[in-house]
Amino acid sequence: MSSRGNFSGRIGFILAAAGSAVGLGNIWRFPYLAGQNGGAIFLMIYLGCILLLCYPIMVGEIAIGRAANSDAYGSYSKLGGRKWGYLGLFGILAGIMILSFYNVVAGWAFGYFLHISFGDLLNEPDFGGFFGTYVNDIIDLSSWAGFSNSNLVFSLIFMVLTALIVAQGIQKGIEASNKIMMPSLYAILLGIIVYSLTLPNAISGVQFYLVPEFSELKVRTIVDALKQSFFSLSLGMGALITYGSYLSKLENIPTSARVISLADTSVAFFSGLMVFPLVHFLAFKLNIDPQQIGTSGPPLIFVVLPQIFHEMGPVLGRIIGGSFFLLVCFAALTSTISLLEVPVAYLVDQKKMQRKSVVWLIALLIFVLGLPSMMSQGMVESLNKLTFYRGNDFLTFISDMSDISLTVGGCLMAIFISRRWGMDKFDEEVAQGNDRYLNSGTRKFLHFSLKWAAPILLGFLSVLIIVEKFFGVENLF
Ligand code: TRP
Repeated sequence: MSSRGNFSGRIGFILAAAGSAVGLGNIWRFPYLAGQNGGAIFLMIYLGCILLLCYPIMVGEIAIGRAANSDAYGSYSKLGGRKWGYLGLFGILAGIMILSFYNVVAGWAFGYFLHISFGDLLNEPDFGGFFGTYVNDIIDLSSWAGFSNSNLVFSLIFMVLTALIVAQGIQKGIEASNKIMMPSLYAILLGIIVYSLTLPNAISGVQFYLVPEFSELKVRTIVDALKQSFFSLSLGMGALITYGSYLSKLENIPTSARVISLADTSVAFFSGLMVFPLVHFLAFKLNIDPQQIGTSGPPLIFVVLPQIFHEMGPVLGRIIGGSFFLLVCFAALTSTISLLEVPVAYLVDQKKMQRKSVVWLIALLIFVLGLPSMMSQGMVESLNKLTFYRGNDFLTFISDMSDISLTVGGCLMAIFISRRWGMDKFDEEVAQGNDRYLNSGTRKFLHFSLKWAAPILLGFLSVLIIVEKFFGVENLF
C-alpha cells in the first residue's frame, strides 16, 4: 500500500464505515421523522429505500474508491475523466456543508452531556424554555452549574476532538477511535432500551412504532424516508469512496456493505425502540395523550427526553440521561471524523499537503462556516427567518441543501457507474475478494438497481424534494 494509509483489515473498515453511518441522523433525526410520518409505515418505506437504492449505491461507492485508490475527486477523474472529477468536488463541498451544521448540533449534545452528568440541567422547571435560550445565546459567558454555557465553546471542542482523531491518520486515528466508540455505543443503546421497556405504558409506545397505519402514507413520507436513508448511510457525496480507497482488495465489498447497512439500520430502529416507549411513559406520567407531546422536530431529544430523565428521579435520571447524551456524542464523533476525512483526503492526495496541517486548516474553516448555522437559532434575526427560504432558519436551509445534494449525488453516481465507468469494470472490481460474485443473484440485482432503479427513482425524487423545499408544496402531497 502507498503512504496514503489503509485500514488494518475487514473489521477496522466495517467499524469505521458503520461509525460514519451511525450518527445524529439515527438518534436525533430518525425518531422524529418516524414520529411525524406515522411510525411503522415510515419504517417500512425506509427499509425499502435501503434495500433497493442505498445498498447498491453503497457497493458502488466503495468499489469506485477501491478501484481508483484515491479521494472523491481523484477517484471520479481517474475512472471517468476530468469532467467527472467535478462530481467529486461537488461531493467534497457537500461534505463541508454537512459538517458545518452537523458540528453545531453535536456541540449542543456535548453540552447536554456535561450539564446532565455533572451539572443540574435536570432540575430545570422548563426544558423547552431552557433549550430555546441555550441554542439562542451562543456566547453566554455566564458559567452555569460550574460549566461554560456557551455553544460556541462546545462546538469548538467537538471540532477539536474530531481534528485530533483525523490528524492521527487512518489506523491510529479513525480506526482506533471507532473500535472503542462503536461497541460502547451499542452497549449503552441496548442498556437504555432494556430499561425503557420496563417503564409503565412502554408497550403502547412500541405499538405506535411497529404497527403500520396505512392511512398515514403520503408522498411526503416517501420523500422523507429517502432523504433520511441517504443521509443516514453517509451516501452520495464520497465519504465511502474515501473510506473505500483505504480498503484492501482482499475484502468482500457486497458483504461489508451488507454489514454496514445492517449496523446503521439497526441503530436507527433501536433508537425508535428507545424513544417511543419513553415518550409514552411520559404521557402516562403527565396523564396526557402521547400525541400532545411534540415528538416532531429537532427538539425531541433536547426537550422531551430531558423531561423524561427528570421524571426518573435525580440519581437514575442523571445516569440514564448522561449515558444517553454520551451515546449521542459517540455517534456524532464517529460521523464527524468521516466528514472531515473527505476534504482532508482530497488535499493530501491532490495537493500533496501534509495530513496534520491540512486537518487543522480545514477543521478551522468548517467551524467558521458553521457560525451562521449556530447563530440562526434566534440570535440573529435575519438568519433565523430567511426570506428567500420561506422563513426557515439558516441551519434548516443548509441541512435541506445537504439532503438534496446527497440524492442528486447518488443519482449521478449511479449514472457514472452504469454509463461511464461501465458495469464490466464495476463487476471486475467487486469480484475481487468475492469469488462467487460473477454468477450471483447479487450481481443481477446490483445491475438492475444501478442501471435503472437508482438513476430513475433518485432523479425523480430529487426533483420532488427540490420542488417541495423551495416552493413549500407540502399540501400538494
Ligand atoms: N450518516 C451520519 C448520520 O446519520 C452523518 C454523516 C456522516 C454523513 N458522514 C456523512 C451524511 C456523509 C452524509 C454523507 O448522522
